[in-house]
Amino acid sequence: MFRIGSVQLKTQLLLAPMAGYCDLPFRLLCRELGGVGLASTDLLNCHSILRGRPTALKLAATNREDQPLCMQLYGNSSDPLPEAAKWAVDHGAAVIDINMGCPVDKVAKKNGGSLLLCDVDSTVRLAERIVQAIHRTGVPVTAKVRLGWDRTRIVAPQLAVKLENVGIAAITVHGRTTDQFFKGNVDYLGISEVVSAVRKIPVIGNGDITEPEDVTNMMDLTGCRAVMIARGAIRAPWIFRQAQALLQLGEPGPEPDHDEKIRIISRHFELLMEHLTEREAVLSMNRRVSWYGKTMGHIKPLKESIRLAQSAREVRQALDQWQNRSNDRNNAAVRQECCLSPVQKNEKTYRFLSCVDCDPVVI
Ligand SMILES: Cc1cc2nc3c(=O)[nH]c(=O)nc-3n(C[C@H](O)[C@H](O)[C@H](O)COP(=O)(O)O)c2cc1C
Repeated sequence: MFRIGSVQLKTQLLLAPMAGYCDLPFRLLCRELGGVGLASTDLLNCHSILRGRPTALKLAATNREDQPLCMQLYGNSSDPLPEAAKWAVDHGAAVIDINMGCPVDKVAKKNGGSLLLCDVDSTVRLAERIVQAIHRTGVPVTAKVRLGWDRTRIVAPQLAVKLENVGIAAITVHGRTTDQFFKGNVDYLGISEVVSAVRKIPVIGNGDITEPEDVTNMMDLTGCRAVMIARGAIRAPWIFRQAQALLQLGEPGPEPDHDEKIRIISRHFELLMEHLTEREAVLSMNRRVSWYGKTMGHIKPLKESIRLAQSAREVRQALDQWQNRSNDRNNAAVRQECCLSPVQKNEKTYRFLSCVDCDPVVI
């Protein structure tokens, strides 16, 4: 069983904080699909939530089905992070995470996010103040770090040790440096050095998990006790249930077929409509459909219809039409008609697909 402080999680799989993506509807979708042990909000600006700014409150919105929830806060030593942590506990957070890895200017130029990696001692004092501010509530505080600012300034192992000493309950390590942004491969050795450095607290490995097998790979290579998934979840929110099956049964659960994926997208849209305004829901689906498309073959026409949709009715219509088309695809006559011309590639013969719906068929 995996715990963060006093919080018992059902699985060792965590949905990462992702600005612009991890709103309540998306967290609920991932939870409904199964396998999520803990889900996080987008990063929250401590000033904005304390001032009650509507956008920040919306990002922090939660409900009974959205548990256990991690609220991620960002700021620097002179910001009211301890007060924001108290606010988050009062508003439904089961875990508070401090962002120590965000590389974007908007955050790092205000001395928050990854910039906290550049002054370890002051960051540790800040973490201690946050831990103390909510100590009585029993809500654990965690930190999400990168390996360091750049290769010449790797600080994650020493920072993790000091954070553990002041009461941080778990550390998530994104196995890249700040100056890498998202480039290059995740450094498993770098994550394993943090695992070796800490005494008791769990380390959560993060980076480049796109298949269920990447989860076990991350655990085997680094010794981390849990895994956090970010972009892999936007493209395939069912990855948690597949990975959980792999961890429990030794086999990943099946990937949803095309029709089920369309039903999942439709369900996602319904959740967006329940919790956001119609305009926000339509725009959100517009941004997300390309991510879904990464696992769905050729869906350009669907993406295009959703991109052009101005209302919820048009989004639903696009999804329904695509579903109907996909049902037709299963009709043998249609398949025969669209797979007429064989193509030679890599010493194999493929049917040429004049119908955009079909998957390649090896003959
Ligand atoms: C669109 C986007 C937004 C992100 N926002 C946050 C954030 O708010 N807080 C944070 O700690 N990390 C954020 N990240 C980083 C991810 O949580 C994660 O560490 C990184 O993407 C590596 O994991 P992955 O390879 O599974 O995507 C973001 C990443 C992406 C792609």
